[in-house]
Amino acid sequence: MTRSTQIHAPLDFRDHLARLEAKGLLVRIDEPVNKDTQLHPLVRWQFTGGLPESARRAFMFTNVYGSDGRKFDSPVVVGAFAASPEIYATGMGVAVEDIGDVWTRGIDNPIEPIHVDDAPCHEVIITGDDLRKPGGGLASLPIPISTPGFDSAPYFTATLCVTKDPETGVRNMGTYRAGLKATDRLCVRMATRLTGAGGYQHWLKYKELGQPMPIAIVLGAAPIVQYTGPQKLRIDEDEMAVAGGLAGAALRTTRARTVDLEIPADAEIVVEGLIDTELVEPEGPFGESHGYIALEEFNMSMQVTAITHRRNPILTSIVSQVTPSESSVMKKVAYEPLYLQHLKKVLNVKGLTGVVMHEPLSNLRPIIFLQFAPKAIQSEVWRGLQGAATLQAQCGKIVIAVTNDVDPRNADAVFWSMAYRSNPIEDLLVVPYRSRSHGPKSESGAANSTLLIDATAKGVMPPLALPARQYMEEARVIWEKVGLPPLSPQAPWHGVHLGDWDDRWERFAQAAAKGEWERNGENSFQRRRANVSPETPVRRVEID
Ligand SMILES: Cc1cc2nc3c(=O)[nH]c(=O)nc-3n(C[C@H](O)[C@H](O)[C@H](O)COP(=O)(O)O)c2cc1C
Repeated sequence: MTRSTQIHAPLDFRDHLARLEAKGLLVRIDEPVNKDTQLHPLVRWQFTGGLPESARRAFMFTNVYGSDGRKFDSPVVVGAFAASPEIYATGMGVAVEDIGDVWTRGIDNPIEPIHVDDAPCHEVIITGDDLRKPGGGLASLPIPISTPGFDSAPYFTATLCVTKDPETGVRNMGTYRAGLKATDRLCVRMATRLTGAGGYQHWLKYKELGQPMPIAIVLGAAPIVQYTGPQKLRIDEDEMAVAGGLAGAALRTTRARTVDLEIPADAEIVVEGLIDTELVEPEGPFGESHGYIALEEFNMSMQVTAITHRRNPILTSIVSQVTPSESSVMKKVAYEPLYLQHLKKVLNVKGLTGVVMHEPLSNLRPIIFLQFAPKAIQSEVWRGLQGAATLQAQCGKIVIAVTNDVDPRNADAVFWSMAYRSNPIEDLLVVPYRSRSHGPKSESGAANSTLLIDATAKGVMPPLALPARQYMEEARVIWEKVGLPPLSPQAPWHGVHLGDWDDRWERFAQAAAKGEWERNGENSFQRRRANVSPETPVRRVEID
């Protein structure tokens, strides 16, 4: 591990915002902005407006009002956790390339949190009638609508939903959406699918006991705590201890005021309550990260028992829905290193060099690419494909292996690889019986299946047919000198060797570039042959 991974993560959200601002990664919007119709669409433009990932920013809205005309004192911050990998890395206090190492270390070396009695998240406490009065309780917070035009309510999106296993006492913290129903009631959605929400497993146990489930919805914890919410950890692994492992230091928890739960002490806002385990309530529609609107379904009805917050709290929200989004960046930077670590260290797949989850529109889980070094052993490629497809029930419906000259972030390059480097009858396998994953409920009810494709180069290949790098670079200097429109080079933008080439062809190319093509012609004149059909490879004849 490099020195920069000796963690210096911000340990509360305000310190994180100050660091983002110092790096020029935070934009303040002081214009009045409507939280119900304008706020999320404005941030959405940075994901759909053709900006490069590096141009994405966190947004702080300081002048927020609702469609009913009500103005809010609290600012709303969107994009501060993971609008881009650089923002995520800032929240971890490391460089982008170290994120994977930090996750591995945090999971392997959890550090138990320490309890404090006096916590910033309890500076203001709202309970009883204050939760129910008109405009009070949840209505007093500037909670935005994520997908105006489709969503049925403002939603908390940047949550850490803290619950506890009633048998073992082990805590779970998951990021689950929660929609407003009344000033003192929410509806929370916890995925019931295999390897879905840990909180749902707790709910089943409370239901069995005939008791409501205590829950605390935490907003605006330190990013390092927040990042454990969407991460796929073992069911009995305490996210707060893993966050300590990521930070390299024990983090602070405190006891919630009206439910028996330990929560992050330095959070901005906490909503405490009890989830009904007998009655479920219609929830949604709400824009989902699989790219479709989730239609109304029965989910968990939560009676709020307290809202606690810091003085002048900051309300955090996450852009999710169609990917790329803040939600997909948050998962991508955390999931990819876990897959690479599993395939390389646990399965010891030889020749594997990278794992890339497909982000735009498909949202990471269904499609995974594996990159292999040239000349990878075919059986190792297949172990990798099968390992990636089976690590998690919800990930790897389609897994495609490519050689690592192909950048899987460029779908065209993947198709090019499939077109010329795979033979479907030999290199493709469909495996039956896969559980259904995250997706619109209107999908067909049949069990899903898995598609594995080996699109790696099976041997050496001729060079990529673009001018060599030096010529492209020289030409670019002229391009810029004569004032042609600015370029943003898309890989591949220059030729590279892929193993099949020889010294003679190299000499011909060098000679041609020096204007000495006639010398090449003299050479080939000497090598003319009779009784050979056109299109016969020269080396086949000359070697024979
Ligand atoms: C912005 C965002 C919103 C999410 N919303 C939900 C949700 O509403 N319900 C859910 O079950 N998972 C949701 N997820 C995915 C879970 O956070 C993820 O599956 C996580 O691993 C759950 O934690 P757990 O395994 O401790 O339950 C969301 C993730 C993100 C980043």
